[in-house]
Amino acid sequence: MLKDPFGRTINYMRISVTDRCNLRCRYCMPDGITCVPMRELLIYEEIAFVCRQAADLGINRFRITGGEPLVRKDCAKLVAMLRKIPGENRIAMTTNGVLLGTFLDELLEAGLDAVNISLDTMDRRQYADITGADELKKVLDSVYRAAGRLPVKINCVVQNGVNEDAPLQLMPLARDLPVDVRFIELMPVGTGKEFNPVPNDVILAQIEEKYGKSREDCSERGSGPAVYRRLDGFAGRVGLISAVHGKFCGSCNRLRLTSTGELKPCLCYGDTIPLREILRDDLPEKDKRIREKIREAVRMKPQAHSFEDRTGVTENRSMAQIGG
Ligand code: GTP
Ligand code: 5AD
Ligand code: SF4
Repeated sequence: MLKDPFGRTINYMRISVTDRCNLRCRYCMPDGITCVPMRELLIYEEIAFVCRQAADLGINRFRITGGEPLVRKDCAKLVAMLRKIPGENRIAMTTNGVLLGTFLDELLEAGLDAVNISLDTMDRRQYADITGADELKKVLDSVYRAAGRLPVKINCVVQNGVNEDAPLQLMPLARDLPVDVRFIELMPVGTGKEFNPVPNDVILAQIEEKYGKSREDCSERGSGPAVYRRLDGFAGRVGLISAVHGKFCGSCNRLRLTSTGELKPCLCYGDTIPLREILRDDLPEKDKRIREKIREAVRMKPQAHSFEDRTGVTENRSMAQIGG
């Protein structure tokens, strides 16, 4: 089991497979990013090699992210490769949903366990305004196709003056389908630094005013920082990821692997440990050396983020470049 210096068990790895994305969300990469050359991205075999070493050390939850993971060719192949790692591992994906309908069957066949879909509004115009693309219909088709076939969570980031009515628009999805709808407080990472987060207690109050009192749901919590609540008559739950106003670092369980093969101990800080050179050199005991780097990244984990004081945030890249 991996324990960090603050006694937290580290059992979760977020893997970014690309920094590219087919959307241009205004708080993430409104003008795109300078994409890293393909040769600098880890190939799937290299990612799977790192994950095997991580699994040996006790990591058993893997989440594939991007940028947008499904813009990388044959993403289901990576799911299948991770599925082959011995142990009871959970393999999930976070996607913007535009291509999910296209690849859903392949992903399920490859053994994907769960999917989180980003969706900030139910309004077509607003969606195009937030993401730079008129793709709401495709995302909703993906949600309807995936619901009931594997656990689905919707991720919604609420922005003041843009989509503050999103909670009321999105909750019917959780009422009518077995999907959880989660609200994420916008974090001052990358372009996100230019925005002010809407506190999740404001969002919960808005939801309860319309749908009645909610109660805490302490059952299966997923692997991340969300807390869940139930509403009468709803098939799914409401989830709150209060990244800024409710600091959840005390229960942090994760490391990140960026698309260029750096281990990243915390979302908030720029420090990373590069693995690519080790993965690509011809020296012996690669497995042992990678495991040592994973242990080092765990030792480097800071106690907490400092999103409440922006001067403490040393990560300057966008969420897409880090792996959200
Ligand atoms: P599950 O709960 O297992 O579904 O996973 P998750 O919530 O970790 O995955 P997802 O990719 O859907 O992440 C949702 C959001 O949670 C991210 O976009 C971030 O905003 C936030 N988040 C995830 N990991 C971290 C983290 O390490 N620190 C902080 N502050 N926020 C995080
Ligand atoms: N703060 C919080 N969430 C963010 N996302 C992207 N940028 C930010 C940010 N600065 C969200 C996306 C997606 C998830 C992977 O990360 O909306 O749902
Ligand atoms: Fe793409 Fe996600 Fe960034 Fe939007 S938030 S541009 S979907 S990586």
